[in-house]
Amino acid sequence: MYMKRAVFVFTLFCIFAFSNALVLGNIGINYGRLGNNLPSPYQTIEFLKSVNAGQVKIYDASPEVLKLLSGTRLRVSIMVTNGLISGIASNQTMSDQWVRENVLAYYPNTRIRTILVGNEVLSYDDQQMWADLVPAMQKIKKSLVSHNIHNVKVGTPLTMDVVESIFPPSSGKFKDDISDKVMIPLLKFLNGSKSYFFLDVYPYFTWSENPTNISLDFALFKDANQTYNDTGSGLIYTNLLDQMLDSVVFAMQKLGFENIRIGISETGWPNGGDMDQTGANVYNAAIYNRNLVRKMTASPEIGTPARPGIVIPTFIFSLYDENQKSGPGTERHWGILNPNGNQIYELDLTGVRPENDYPQMQEPSNNKPYKGKLWCVVASSVDTMELGPALDFACSQGNGTCDELAPEKACYQPVSEVAHANYAFSSYWAKFRDAGASCYFNGFAVQTTSDPSKFLLNHHLV
Ligand SMILES: *[C@@H]1O[C@H](CO)[C@@H](O)[C@H](O)[C@H]1NC(C)=O
Ligand SMILES: *[C@@H]1O[C@H](CO)[C@@H](O)[C@H](O)[C@H]1NC(C)=O
Ligand SMILES: *[C@@H]1O[C@H](CO)[C@@H](O)[C@H](O)[C@H]1NC(C)=O
Ligand SMILES: *[C@@H]1O[C@H](CO)[C@@H](O)[C@H](O)[C@H]1NC(C)=O
Ligand SMILES: *[C@@H]1O[C@H](CO)[C@@H](O)[C@H](O)[C@H]1NC(C)=O
Ligand SMILES: *[C@@H]1O[C@H](CO)[C@@H](O)[C@H](O)[C@H]1NC(C)=O
Repeated sequence: MYMKRAVFVFTLFCIFAFSNALVLGNIGINYGRLGNNLPSPYQTIEFLKSVNAGQVKIYDASPEVLKLLSGTRLRVSIMVTNGLISGIASNQTMSDQWVRENVLAYYPNTRIRTILVGNEVLSYDDQQMWADLVPAMQKIKKSLVSHNIHNVKVGTPLTMDVVESIFPPSSGKFKDDISDKVMIPLLKFLNGSKSYFFLDVYPYFTWSENPTNISLDFALFKDANQTYNDTGSGLIYTNLLDQMLDSVVFAMQKLGFENIRIGISETGWPNGGDMDQTGANVYNAAIYNRNLVRKMTASPEIGTPARPGIVIPTFIFSLYDENQKSGPGTERHWGILNPNGNQIYELDLTGVRPENDYPQMQEPSNNKPYKGKLWCVVASSVDTMELGPALDFACSQGNGTCDELAPEKACYQPVSEVAHANYAFSSYWAKFRDAGASCYFNGFAVQTTSDPSKFLLNHHLV
């Protein structure tokens, strides 16, 4: 009786542990910290547990964070920052030292499972760093093996710009300038060490660059009836993410690597952004991440058409909105939590909650492009005494950005720092927007629908 009971209990436990490992709490979260309003690492780890995250990825090897993660069940991904790659690539002693200080000091109590060497290395035009990437990964791996650590994968997160095209996925091919030099050695390393090809993969960006040819529903996994038929492979796609992932699968295949698994080191959808950033809203972010989690945790959706049923470890970007990131507004709006730990939108990371069980949300108004005029002006919250550097920056970019502000020219009056900055920001943005410039100026500027010259005129006349 006792034995039977013990066996029974043990069996139950195993089933629980099994489903827990495979389904519940498997989704990872990126914990970026470029914000000045973020909770402490201690509080953050409590939040991660409260939302059922299974894994956490950090962009360094912060001693404070790694110490606090000790004893939690969270699996951890740490990073060798880009600046260290070249040193480590040529110096095994430096690699050993890095592993000693950043892994051995916490492992195994802190469940470090992945070391990412660099961040989006191939997206920087730095040939030396490209050449040093794989040697650095090899040295880190060697340091781990010398300490008999075999359950920590060594990888490197790359972006979708490693492939030439995702249409159709079967035509996927790595770009010529990296294919022989970097990708072949990298794939050999990943294959030989049974590691993952980690991708930062954003259907949001692909869709927003081409919203006429790609439907929003396809990017949001919203309509399985809408398909993309890849005539090259005969595979049928029902969402953009699968298409993006498989273009890398096919690119690897073309170089002879059939079995390297894909991991998603970042994906997500912005919960907000600038007025001209169509589709960046809480509604789409919620739909994207809920559908993503369901897809990554629930059969039969797991995997991609080229790799059906194969689990893809996935880290959502990001835990918090990070208010100190520069660039367009979306950059500061990838979070799933407010700084107080409340969810920006409800999101069940175990993937079991069906969409119709979530509260209904109002359809957003910015899923269609904003058609009116926009200006780039001084943000109301800033100290106008500190505008000088931003104004100087705008006017130093050339192409006549500030010609009209000269004393004899049309926009010289009214002579005020704010009026001149409004003109300079708008002029700069109008000229350089197509080249990727954003209306931000370290928080000094925002987009507006009202013509600043009229606004100022009214104020000055009153
Ligand atoms: C290798 O790294 C170690 C540890 O950082 C350092 O002391 C040593 O000088 C380096 N060797 C070379 C050749 O740079
Ligand atoms: C959209 O698709 C059409 C038809 O296939 C093609 O001619 C056009 O180049 C595509 N546009 C973009 C921006 O890719
Ligand atoms: C997809 O097609 C099925 C069968 O034709 C239909 O029942 C279902 O409503 C469709 N779904 C959507 C989202 O259109
Ligand atoms: C996809 O394209 C192939 C080749 O053109 C065709 O045989 C097949 O019927 C198509 N499938 C769908 C679902 O459109
Ligand atoms: C990948 O690794 C496996 C062993 O795990 C090996 O059999 C295979 O040849 C490798 N593939 C390539 C292209 O090197
Ligand atoms: C700025 O001026 C340079 C040199 O005249 C020109 O090549 C460039 O295309 C201009 N850029 C914009 C955004 O107008």
